Amino acid sequence: MTYLGIDLGTSGLRALLISQDGQAIGAAESHYSVSHPHSGWSEQDPAAWIVALEAAIGQLRAAHPEFSQLKGVGVAGHMHGATLLDAGGHVLRPCILWNDTRSHVEAARLDSTPDVRALSGNIVFPGFTAPKLEWVRHHEPDMFARVAKVLLPAAYLNFYLTGRYVADMSDSAGTSWLDTGARRWSTELLKAGHMRPDQMPDLVEGSQPAGTLKPELAARWGVSRDVVIAGGAGDNAAAACGIGALSEGQGFVSLGTSGVLLAARDGYAPAPETALHTFCHAVPDRWHQMGVMLSATDSLNWLSRMTGRKPADLTTALGSQLKAPGRVRFLPYLSGERTPHNDADIRGSFTGLGTDTTVEDLTQAVLEGVAFGLRDSAEALRATGARLEALFAIGGGAASRLWVEMIATVLGVDLILPKSGEFGAALGAARLGLVAATGQPVEAVMTPPDTGSVISPARDLGAAFDHAYRQFRAAYPALKAIQ
Ligand code: XUL
Repeated sequence: MTYLGIDLGTSGLRALLISQDGQAIGAAESHYSVSHPHSGWSEQDPAAWIVALEAAIGQLRAAHPEFSQLKGVGVAGHMHGATLLDAGGHVLRPCILWNDTRSHVEAARLDSTPDVRALSGNIVFPGFTAPKLEWVRHHEPDMFARVAKVLLPAAYLNFYLTGRYVADMSDSAGTSWLDTGARRWSTELLKAGHMRPDQMPDLVEGSQPAGTLKPELAARWGVSRDVVIAGGAGDNAAAACGIGALSEGQGFVSLGTSGVLLAARDGYAPAPETALHTFCHAVPDRWHQMGVMLSATDSLNWLSRMTGRKPADLTTALGSQLKAPGRVRFLPYLSGERTPHNDADIRGSFTGLGTDTTVEDLTQAVLEGVAFGLRDSAEALRATGARLEALFAIGGGAASRLWVEMIATVLGVDLILPKSGEFGAALGAARLGLVAATGQPVEAVMTPPDTGSVISPARDLGAAFDHAYRQFRAAYPALKAIQ
């Protein structure tokens, strides 16, 4: 038997085939673009996801005959996106994505509505789904009147695969319509956002069956008619399933376009005032909490565009020995910030530049700025009682060992680099598919990957980084005052 994990990412889709014992058999990827019709807008055509999915399936089928033994599928998706469908199940407009900030006015209004934070457990961020629908209601009223269902990106793929409207709890917690503690749609929250319960998909746990593969897809893909589709997950919850972070003390630092510090939680301990995100986990009776910074590797990519040097060349030029912070500070708010500031308007800055400042100084400052942003999330997480003990470092930025050591030093924790292999959201999604199809216990399937190395804080530099972090903290109000 084999199982398929689909990671529907912002820039592309990755499909991973695993065996009954959870080992990777093969993977395929297909890419698509994001359109930015106006500054701060970010949209994607759901049809591109289907083209990418079918292309990836085609590649997997051609390369791996084991595909024909498919028994379970799980989908992980970039979170918060609003895919609007009419009564016939047709897509009404491009999906408005997680990093689209056009609805900041609507978000602020919803966020200040009594009981909204208490019920959802979260600030209503402009990136979340409810304010997007409020924006559509105000700016595209004809469109709004035709909305029969709102699906998150992963739930849209569930619909394509099963013909049913089903979403999982971890992804749905990012809508501002879910009662995150009770794990059900909240009629109060839906009412606050001018939505109706019948416009929502059915809810299941991420590791439970959402339906079976449509017969026409089963025939086209050359698989049996009883392939189970799991509820699936938001991408961060799926990544947590991929590295086995289910329980208190376990989590990860993810250095992707956005930077995430995630802690698995045994109970529900919301702290909306801190701008932490408190979401259901993709497995029953568990939650996860995370701080999200919007520009992690995106900050380095920006410096790369400015200097004409590849990101890896910029970090390699710093050498392998971690140095104490210099005078230059970087505030990584290139697209605004979620945790801890909830500020869609703020933009980044460099301070402390001199005539002697080099590109290496700028690179060091950018890496530090991202590390300090993650420390903001760590401070907020620790204040809620979350334990940050076994943290994996994942995502593209983790390829720089120096950056990982810097983050370990700034957070004051060991960071674990997994041994090469599969451990991301696609693996988490495949594991959800396996559990949904077989009923195996989640703890038996969602185990941590083998450790490649453990990166410890550079103790002799701890005080210097603490000092620089305090300067970083002090810089936000000053920056706010001049923007
Ligand atoms: C989480 C978030 C991002 C997206 C894109 O709240 O917005 O991590 O899921 O990956």
